[in-house]
This record gives sequence, C-alpha cells and structure tokens, in this order.
Amino acid sequence: MSRCNVIIFYFSRGGHTRALADAIAEGVHATGAEALLRTVETDSDAASMRDLPLSKDELVSCDGLIMGSPTRFGHMSASLQKFWESTSREWLNGELIDKPAAVFTTSSSLHGGQESTLLNIALPLLHHGMLLTGIPYDQPSLHHADAGGSPYGAGALNQNPNAKLTANERASAIALGQRVATIARQLKQTKDT
Ligand SMILES: Cc1cc2nc3c(=O)[nH]c(=O)nc-3n(C[C@H](O)[C@H](O)[C@H](O)COP(=O)(O)O)c2cc1C
Repeated sequence: MSRCNVIIFYFSRGGHTRALADAIAEGVHATGAEALLRTVETDSDAASMRDLPLSKDELVSCDGLIMGSPTRFGHMSASLQKFWESTSREWLNGELIDKPAAVFTTSSSLHGGQESTLLNIALPLLHHGMLLTGIPYDQPSLHHADAGGSPYGAGALNQNPNAKLTANERASAIALGQRVATIARQLKQTKDT
C-alpha cells in the first residue's frame, strides 16, 4: 500500500477543537493513512501548541487536508485566516488543486454559528481548488446529531470547560477522517497510474 498523508490543520485555545482533531485523526489512521496534526504559531498556552506549526512544504506535499477552528463570532479564528493570507505563492502555482479536503469546528452554544464557521473555513480551500467533502447522510451519527456534526463537516458543542465529545460527535468526526483519507488514497493511486 502506498504512503498517504492527511494533514489535520487546526487551532485550539482551550482543547475542545483539539479533541475533535484527535477523533478525526483516529478515522484517518483507521484507513492505514498517516495523520499529521499541525497548527499555527500562537502564544504558548494555546492547547494546539502541543503540535508543530504547519510548514508550506508540508502543505503542498500533503495528500489531503482537514482544517478546524473554534467558532469565533461565526467565523474561523484570525490566526488561521492569517495563515491563508500567506499562501499567495501556493495559490498562484496551483499547489493544492484537486487535493481532497474537509472542515471541522467547535462552539460553546448550540446555535452559535457552527455551520457558518464550517462554510467560512471551506472558502480558502475552495479558492485553492481543493475538493471539499462533508459527511454524507449514510453516516448514522448524523441522523442522531444531538450537539455538533453536520453535512458540512464535523462539529462539537462544549458548554463547559470539561465537556467531552458525545458519542455522535465522535462517530461523525471519525467518519470524516476516514472519508478524506480514503478519497486521498484513491486519488493518489489514480494519479500514480
Ligand atoms: C473571541 C471568541 C469568540 C467566540 N465566538 C463564538 C461564537 O460565535 N459562537 C459560539 O457558540 N461560541 C463562540 N466562542 C466559544 C468557542 O467557539 C468555543 O468555546 C470553542 O469550543 C473553543 O474551542 P477550543 O477549546 O478549541 O479553543 C467564542 C470564543 C471566543 C474566545
């Protein structure tokens, strides 16, 4: 089986988005692909600082990308937006065209903007020509989504600092990781033949 790597690119201050990133990584690993957790440079007490900042070399050589942010007033975090604003060269060279991608978010209120954030995170990926995928409705956890998780991507609700992923949030996140990794491998094999 050829090597396939999926980057999970995220920011997390308090650890909730990191927990969702971990569940997505579990899904990627379940397919035999490699999951690289990467973040953006921020202050050292952000939970995501346990991972390395994403380099441009890693970005252009990945087989798939899954990007996540806490919901920030219905948007992605400015630190992630700033990263994309430094990718003009990669955009001009079409480096990410036809790579599969997906998105995820967490929020502290149920109707606090998870869906708008997921769509917002998707925008730079679409500008880069990536192939966006969500979670299809043959995924049972989506039918029973009690907090986070939508066809647009994985999600989790945290209403207190110790909140854990619900079983449905976790199952949808794992399914998303599996889906992107499976598509990434298929596309890579097609390109290699
Ligand atoms: C500046 C700021 C803006 C936020 N905006 C929203 C929001 O619009 N809707 C919401 O439900 N939660 C909002 N939150 C809460 C975070 O999205 C939520 O706690 C998230 O799960 C934190 O993720 P983390 O633990 O990975 O940092 C906001 C938090 C901050 C600090």
